Amino acid sequence: MAKGRRSKSKTTNSEQEKYMAAREALNLIKDGMIVGLGSGTTANIFIEELGRRIAEEELSVFGVPTSFESRMLAIKNGIPIVSLDQCDVIDIAVDGADEVERRSLSLIKGGGGCHTMEKIVDYFAEEFVVIVDSGKVVEVLGDKTPVPLEVLPCAYPFVLKELLKRDAAPSIRMAERKRGPVITDNGNMIIDVFIDLKDPEKVERELNTIPGVVENGIFTKVDKVIVGHKNKVEILQK
Ligand code: 5RP
Repeated sequence: MAKGRRSKSKTTNSEQEKYMAAREALNLIKDGMIVGLGSGTTANIFIEELGRRIAEEELSVFGVPTSFESRMLAIKNGIPIVSLDQCDVIDIAVDGADEVERRSLSLIKGGGGCHTMEKIVDYFAEEFVVIVDSGKVVEVLGDKTPVPLEVLPCAYPFVLKELLKRDAAPSIRMAERKRGPVITDNGNMIIDVFIDLKDPEKVERELNTIPGVVENGIFTKVDKVIVGHKNKVEILQK
């Protein structure tokens, strides 16, 4: 009983921090905007709140989803959606992250395996805003969290060999309630690696030179990070 109570309050703290960050990002949304909708539990809170604001204020806002999940949630919350090929510009993208390095504001994303679409939408947006709870901010990127690579299924044995040459401890991400590997929204596999990230921009570029790698989960072009705390938000900006 006591055990159950402890774990419930722990979850509530991190949920509250995610909520604080998502609410702050909501203030950046203006009538007429096209908004990139990130993926993950923090982005999901933003999507729900955005849906509520659109309904309450009768805003004309369109969303560009970054995953099948964010698309479903946007539809459920009444956010009109457009695909990438239907918009000239994305005014702002709001997305979560698995890790944020305080010094460089570089990120690791892709815990949900959606980083390819996330990177397209987030990088093409005029402004890319990251929303996280305080537990995501680290001093050294990649010590605890692996970097995911989305990989074409036909190429995985060769990509694994290349990654072993780089001492990157590659592992194929396996599904939990299905036999076999995780298959992304784009029909690809995910290989997670641990790699030295002292120069995140260089590694971001270099990993994508391996044939068969579609995209990696290092994000180095970030405009603003909103960190949620229990009763306040902290803004990290370069
Ligand atoms: C999905 C992502 C997510 O943004 C990242 O995993 C953070 O998720 P959460 O907000 O649930 O912690 O990159 O590919």
